[in-house]
Amino acid sequence: MYYINRQAFVKARFNLLPMLVLGIETSCDETGVALYHTERALLGHVLYSQAALHADYGGVVPELASRDHIRRVLPLTRDLLAKTGCTVGELDAIAYTEGPGLAGALLVGASIAHGLAYSLGVPALGLHHLEGHLLSPLLSRPAPEFPFIALLVSGGHSQLMRVAGIGDYELLGETVDDAAGEAFDKTAKLLGLGYPGGPALAQLAETGRPGRFRLPRPMLTSGDLNFSFSGLKTAVLTLIAQQAPDERGRADIAAEFEAAIVDVLVGKSLTALGRTGLKQLVVAGGVGANRLLRERLSAAARKKAVDVFYPEMEFCTDNGAMIAFAGALRLQKTGPRIENRGSTAFSVRPRWELEDLVAPPD
Ligand code: KG4
Ligand code: ZN
Repeated sequence: MYYINRQAFVKARFNLLPMLVLGIETSCDETGVALYHTERALLGHVLYSQAALHADYGGVVPELASRDHIRRVLPLTRDLLAKTGCTVGELDAIAYTEGPGLAGALLVGASIAHGLAYSLGVPALGLHHLEGHLLSPLLSRPAPEFPFIALLVSGGHSQLMRVAGIGDYELLGETVDDAAGEAFDKTAKLLGLGYPGGPALAQLAETGRPGRFRLPRPMLTSGDLNFSFSGLKTAVLTLIAQQAPDERGRADIAAEFEAAIVDVLVGKSLTALGRTGLKQLVVAGGVGANRLLRERLSAAARKKAVDVFYPEMEFCTDNGAMIAFAGALRLQKTGPRIENRGSTAFSVRPRWELEDLVAPPD
């Protein structure tokens, strides 16, 4: 996929120096590679999903994921370079996902990024995966202005953040148990749907009727900005045991489940906006691809004169573009870290709180 000159505005906004950044994402089950040029915008990105590889196991098998990333990263990079007409010699920096994620999978991206950077004498920059998701709406038009509220809903995280600038993230609330995407995936499994469960459940829900069965809206009125989704999954398990639903019943349960999660995400997002007085909401992470969530959020926001920003569908789930982009923004602020050139030492951070990120200097 190619995007030439779509983000000329980014240059003006961040006053960027010309720089070509290769982004590598290997934190879970998608190998993503992208080229971002600070003057010419996103030149292209390629993605390989391992969904079929893990489907038989009903979830991601970490060792298989690492091995497949090894197989894919370099061919994908070669493919991307050829399609965009760029050469490795033109790269000014390489950004990669340093964490959080699966340790072995992260190590593949980190070692390739550092090996390539070492051989080219350019810096390698480790990025926080969620920072990539948080900043990904800035790749789309129209883009939000700092500060904004971000609803980050992925397979591993459900958080509401106040985003004041690059690296300036304040956690307002988060899940106390399962993440929203995890709840989708686990409930999909209970409904006999394959992996990955979120999109499959959403598709089944399209044919169902919410309200026929009633599920709770956990913590909707808790007064804080935290979430809890594991009880919903248990409630679905109980419903299935009681009802032994047929195909239509399963679709109705899926629809009610989706409606329950969406009600909570919309309710808490509005509360976060109300409390901070901000008027822009950014939705990031894989669950941001959910159609019902988008519809409901947009409708609720309209009533409150709030603007909602979504990354394009292909940038909602994991991808290399968000890493190349976030890497370019950070490198522009810190300057290429000279000491990093020629360094062979690197590490990954399978567990890494977004709040521990340090903002680059102004
Ligand atoms: O951001 P992402 O690609 O990976 C993580 O960083 O976790 O998010 C993946 C999650 C999965 O749990 C997947 O089921 C969920 O996003 N997801 C969806 C939809 N598309 C992806 N959940 C609900 N509806 C969708 N349409
Ligand atoms: Zn992700």
